[in-house]
Amino acid sequence: MKILVIGQGGREHTLVWKIAQSPLVEKIYCAPGNAGIAQIAEPISIGDDFAELADWAESINIDLTVVGPENPLAAGIVDVFGERGLKAFGPNKQAARLEGSKDFAKQLMVKNNIPTASYHTFVDADEAIGYIKTNKTSVFVKADGLAAGKGVIPGRTIDEAIQAVKTILVDKAFGDAGNSVVIEEELIGEEASFTVLVDGAHCLPFVSSQDHKMSHDGDTGKNTGGMGAYSPAPVMMSELHDYVMERVVYPTVNGMANIGCSFKGVLYVGLMITDAGPKVLEFNCRFGDPEAQVLLPRLKSDLVPLLMACIDGTLDQHADVDWHTESAACVVMASGGYPNPYQTGKIITGLTDAESIDGVTVFHAGTKQDGENVVTAGGRVLGVTALADDLKSAIEQAYHGVSAIHFDDAHWRTDIGYRALSRI
Ligand code: AMP
Ligand code: GLY
Repeated sequence: MKILVIGQGGREHTLVWKIAQSPLVEKIYCAPGNAGIAQIAEPISIGDDFAELADWAESINIDLTVVGPENPLAAGIVDVFGERGLKAFGPNKQAARLEGSKDFAKQLMVKNNIPTASYHTFVDADEAIGYIKTNKTSVFVKADGLAAGKGVIPGRTIDEAIQAVKTILVDKAFGDAGNSVVIEEELIGEEASFTVLVDGAHCLPFVSSQDHKMSHDGDTGKNTGGMGAYSPAPVMMSELHDYVMERVVYPTVNGMANIGCSFKGVLYVGLMITDAGPKVLEFNCRFGDPEAQVLLPRLKSDLVPLLMACIDGTLDQHADVDWHTESAACVVMASGGYPNPYQTGKIITGLTDAESIDGVTVFHAGTKQDGENVVTAGGRVLGVTALADDLKSAIEQAYHGVSAIHFDDAHWRTDIGYRALSRI
């Protein structure tokens, strides 16, 4: 098979790395890819024009296109490929609203009695502020649309919540993604994420994982795309797993089918495990990044037939998927300053040394080849990942990998997995 992967981050490097292990695969292309991906897949520089990409895919007989990030999914890449009879993994534009509009996701949850925080949606800033003043409880204020994981602002005091509304609705800090805001009650508990492959009707749950969204140790600093992840997540005990499948995953998948929006692809459920049970914080319609970096190395089975089965509606024939028993940890090395503005073009050294450490794989995110050198080219630069017998060893090995790598102003969290370790 010839496979095209869309994207350029750590998640896409992990997808390409896993797909390359499939005996079914003859050649992998990646549009646009990064320096690490280019070692295993041919880079394609067509850009965001889906029709042009589909023309190219048709011309060289691509058998499967795997879409990594949410933006092309929300913009309808799967629809454009599908119209040409090209198989593309991921939800179509209508179904991708589950991530692309928080208000859409909330309405679906309410309609299907899925546990989540109570909320209100506003397009008018004065109305939103009036609500905050009368409501007086601690809230989270969210841009309705896609904002690269940064459109959620805590409003723990009335002033903070009002400022968040102004940032989103008035200052348009997230552009049109902030044409409306969802204001929801704050949920207290421990977060866990749940990843499921879906073929429109059948669901195949992955092992559990958890990321660390805040930029600095102790979950302080600013919200980022994710500074590290680990799998399994001990908070996700087996009775919670069953509860989430029954109360969240199947009602979501069936709820989408019932409104004519059959969901195919990765359903990522962000959960808060509260005293009253798990409640949904968000849905994503693709693998988490950096959750993919810890989930895919734990998958023993071939990923490619699973992705094809999602498209073909035959996932029920793959219930016997195998997992490695080892645990995985990923530490993200970011450019100094991220998620605020940062410099790029810093030379990265020590990649080979890091990968020679037992169990360590370095997934590239914001990197590019510059002559002889690999240099930084984004906020999140590398996902240093380790697989080991237990979580503690996986975390230690990942940090060994980090200590072998250098680039100027590199920043990483030193406490990835601390919550999980405190439970073991
Ligand atoms: P979201 O993109 O909606 O998952 O929000 C990003 C992050 O903000 C989550 O991972 C949580 O850490 C936090 N968050 C969002 N909504 C809430 C909520 N209702 N209560 C507590 N924390 C929240
Ligand atoms: N790591 C969180 C996300 O991918 O949305």
